[in-house]
Amino acid sequence: MKKRSIQELERDLKKIRTENILDVATGRGEFLNTIIHALGSYKSVTGIDSNESALNMARENFKKTNSKFLKMDAYNLTFNPESFDMVCLSNSLHHFSEIEQILANMKKVLKTGGYFIINEMHKDNQQIEEQKTHILMHHWWSVIDTRSGIVHNKTFNSSRIVNLVSALQLQELKIYEYAYQINDPKDEKMIATYMNYIDSYSNKIKDHDDFEMLREQGRYLKIRLRDIGFAPASNLFVMGKK
Ligand SMILES: C[S@@+](CC[C@H](N)C(=O)[O-])C[C@H]1O[C@@H](n2cnc3c(N)ncnc32)[C@H](O)[C@@H]1O
Repeated sequence: MKKRSIQELERDLKKIRTENILDVATGRGEFLNTIIHALGSYKSVTGIDSNESALNMARENFKKTNSKFLKMDAYNLTFNPESFDMVCLSNSLHHFSEIEQILANMKKVLKTGGYFIINEMHKDNQQIEEQKTHILMHHWWSVIDTRSGIVHNKTFNSSRIVNLVSALQLQELKIYEYAYQINDPKDEKMIATYMNYIDSYSNKIKDHDDFEMLREQGRYLKIRLRDIGFAPASNLFVMGKK
């Protein structure tokens, strides 16, 4: 299926005038903040997540917006069917084991004619070396989380994401691809942040049998960060109507 550009995405989002938006697995609401500024108009936002401390940050960030942030499990959305005009899920598909169930839950609470949006980073090959640093780091984080009992799959390829959404039989399905641009892939502050992140993940793996191998991979990632740098991996943005 044809992948549209970031310019087309911006243009298409600007044309949308919607009302009540639900963002599932919203975290600190970063994606939600991006999308509401890209839309033509909206009335209110609701974010749900299982992590209360992330929700508290979202509540703080959205103080001036007509917003609600609720602790809720995405496997058990407690809203009435057909409650929202737009339902989104960003960079969270790979955090679920029963993805089809999550997508079906989202579709159920979306009004007929409402917008269904999935935004997810992908690992397809055409990405530059700096982006591959992101993908490799993400794979390493996912292995460590998985060993700690947290559902965290490796980055999907774009066809997996498209197939999952296509199965929902939405109308007017459109697929866009974009990457967040950064000025300097070796920016010292950014690299230091990721170095610290790698250290904190290394500390989580103390008890595993293959500790040394994972630690070694962490050391390699730190060298790669310094030598090649980091850039955000490409995202697939899939939008359709129920
Ligand atoms: C990588 S973050 C994505 C945050 C946000 N959507 C964004 O794009 O900035 C994944 C989020 O999924 C949430 N999550 C994982 N399992 C969940 C579940 N069963 N129900 C609700 N949220 C969940 C996590 O707490 C985390 O905030």
